[in-house]
This record gives sequence, structure tokens and C-alpha cells, in this order.
Amino acid sequence: MAEIKKVREKWGSKLGFILAAAGSAIGLGNIWKFPYIAGENGGAAFIFIYLICIVIIGLPVLIAEVLLGRTTQRNPVGAFKKLSDSKFWIGVGSLGVIAGFLILSYYIVIAGWSLGYIFEAFNGSFFEFNQSNTSAAHFNDLIQNVTWNVGFTIAFLLITMIFVYSGVQKGIERGSKILMPILLLLLVISAVKGISLPGSEKGISFLLEPNWSLVTPSSILVALGHAFFTLSLGMGAMLTYGSYLGKENNIFSASTQIVFLDTIIALLAGLAIFTSVFATQQDPSAGPGLIFHTLPVVFTKMPGGYIFSILFFFLLTIAALTSAISLLEVVVSYFVDEKGWRRHSAVIVFGGVTFLIAIPSALSFNVLSDFHIFGLNFFDLADYLTSNIMLPLGGMLISIFVAWIWGFDKALVELKQGAENVFSNYPFVISAWKIFVKYFAPVLIFLVLLNSLGVL
Ligand code: PHE
Repeated sequence: MAEIKKVREKWGSKLGFILAAAGSAIGLGNIWKFPYIAGENGGAAFIFIYLICIVIIGLPVLIAEVLLGRTTQRNPVGAFKKLSDSKFWIGVGSLGVIAGFLILSYYIVIAGWSLGYIFEAFNGSFFEFNQSNTSAAHFNDLIQNVTWNVGFTIAFLLITMIFVYSGVQKGIERGSKILMPILLLLLVISAVKGISLPGSEKGISFLLEPNWSLVTPSSILVALGHAFFTLSLGMGAMLTYGSYLGKENNIFSASTQIVFLDTIIALLAGLAIFTSVFATQQDPSAGPGLIFHTLPVVFTKMPGGYIFSILFFFLLTIAALTSAISLLEVVVSYFVDEKGWRRHSAVIVFGGVTFLIAIPSALSFNVLSDFHIFGLNFFDLADYLTSNIMLPLGGMLISIFVAWIWGFDKALVELKQGAENVFSNYPFVISAWKIFVKYFAPVLIFLVLLNSLGVL
């Protein structure tokens, strides 16, 4: 029987790719997670370590991932299959698809809270409590309410599915082109507002003056794990987005712009949040609840807080949406490429499966709060396993694959397409990339992983 070749979808433009990939990178990681882990790990000192991880590991691995996708025009499993026949490497691709599922399962829960908080903000609920303990109690009541928690998780998942269902150009690209500029604008407004508040200087110095005493070896693992999480690396999301990219595009410049946008947004979010937190004398180290308990109190205490509270949770939801889209797209592209499914069927079936695996995470805050595996509830376990183990491990294996298995001879031929000017004018950039991918990324990630397992 003759095989029917379907035309694979493609981005309409390089800008479309950059915005979609930046949309994947910029998410809850930048606005929810980065400020609170920076708060817990010494502020500026942690940010310094994180920036080093981004430059010497994140950017080189991002280039490697996009390159693997663009070369093979496949999903993570298909990409490894095309370049090697070893079961091991195909397994690495499958691990990426599984990691995508696992991240999505807890990601949509937090994104659901954010969606729910748009309504809370709109109803002016925050103004009923102006102390962080009453605000925290309100948040706990909400997440213990199964209908609220599961309901908003489903609503968020459905919105994500609509974009993926509509396809690469018409759904993901078009959505990113509208949503990303709105996100940037709202964040700049929030940061300017934060800086203009009296007493905001303390927040700025918290972000800029390092407190090395709070940095521990585990902070280094957190910084590295976060570098992977925030750039959507190590599980094939960037590989999949790279697979819709034409060969005429320069991967170096596109990847650098993606990393730049992601880092600027994380720093702007940190600035917007910590200036407001310090100006209203709240606790900067409130952990994962920073955004959900502390910020509502901040809003009640600042002029114009009602409008800003709505804008903020709207912004957070948009950021989460463009990331969740990329997570679902990894799974969908796998079933479309490898199993010959139709996009529409894949979205409906795997949207449903995602919902099922999200339930234990959503219930980790109520019905299942006493259910622990290795001392962690489902939600924390999915977060720990993916951010601190699967993504760094995936990133390490991707670097090893490109440098040692596929080999630079072939990789550079592919990389050069669209990037001829970098090869002729800035050859040191190419040499640096090779050294980082061949030695720095694998060795450093390996050491940090050993450390996290208590071996070092
Ligand atoms: N980068 C996203 C964020 O910062 C999370 C993500 C991880 C998305 C892995 C896709 C893949 O929120």
C-alpha cells in the first residue's frame, strides 16, 4: 500500500518561531517560581549562579535541541530514531515525551489557580483581607475546594487544547504573536509601578546585593534545574518547535533572542514582585505561596491595586498558557509523526489523558494531602522529579548525543545553514559552542546530579 505523505506543518516566519519558543520558555517558571526560589536562596547570589547556568549550559543546550529538531523535522522520539538506531537514544526521546506529560499534569494545576485568581481579583475578594495570614487562609480554602481547584484546572486545559488543536501556524504561532506582546507590556507596567512605590529600594537591593550565606550546594542544583525548566530544555519541547523551523533560519541568533527574552522577563517579574513586596512590608521568602498569598495583600496596600491585581493574574495566566501549549504539542507531535494520528484526535485523546494524570496533583492539596511518596505529595513529586532530575538528565544526554554520537562533523554542516555569517565572522562562537556542548554541559550537569543524589 502506498504510504500517504502528509505535509508537515511549519512556522510562517522566524519571528513566529521566536515568539512561540519564547512563549514556551516564559511561563510560571519566570513569574511564579523564579522569584520565590530566588527569595529562598539568597536573592542576588542565587541569580548570579542562575545566570551562569543559563549562559554556559542553557544557551548551548538550547541551540543543540533546536538543531536536532530542525535537522530531523521530527518529534523527540522520531529525531533520535532518524539519527541513530540505538534503542537507548530512542528511549531518551521517549523519556522527554513522558516528562512533558508529567510537567503538564502539575503545571495546569497552578495555571488553574492563576485563572481562578483573575476572577478573585475581579470580584475584589482581595480587599476583604489585608494581612498575609488571612490571605493565606483564603488561598488554602480555595485550593482545598475540589470544585474550584479541579474546575479551573480543566478550564485552563481546555483553553490550551484549543490552541494546539488549531495547529502550528493558526493556533500556536498566531496565539503567541498576540499574547506575548501583551505579556511584555503588562509586565513592564507592573515593574514600573513596583519601582515607583515608596520603599521599593529595599526590593531592588534584595535583587542586586548578594547574600552568599543563604547559598548552599543544593541552591546550585536548584539554579541548574531552573535553568532547564525556564528554557523548556531537556525534554524535547524546543526540539519539537525547532522541527517546524525552515533551514534558512539562523539558529544562533534565534536561540540567543529566546534566552534574552526569557531572562529579561524573569528579572522584570522579580523586580515587579520584590519592589511591591518590600514597599508593603511583606515577607519575601514566602515560598510557592508568594504570588498567591503575599501579592493579594500587596495589591490591597497599593494605589490602583484593584486594576493591577486583575492585570497581574491575567499576565500570569497568559504566560502559563503559551508554555502549556508547548508541553501538549510535544505529546501531540509524537503521535502525529510516529503513529500517524490526526492532530485533532491526538489533542482530544491526550488532553483527556493529561486531565486524568493532573487529578492526583490537583487533589494533593485536599483529598490526597496525606498521601506521600518518598515524603512528597503527587504535586511536589512531579515537580521535583521533572525539574531536578529528568530535565537536567535529558539536557546532559542531548549534549552527549550531539557531541559524541551524532558528531560535530555532521552537526556543524546542519548548523551552518542559515548561520553562514556566524561561521565566517565569529568562528570563536562556534568553537565556544562546541566546547560547552562537548565538555561543560555533560560534566557540570553530571556533578550537580551526583551531588543531588548525595554521592558527592
Ligand atoms: N519554561 C516553562 C516555564 O518557565 C516550563 C516548561 C518546561 C515548558 C518544560 C515546556 C517544557 O514556565
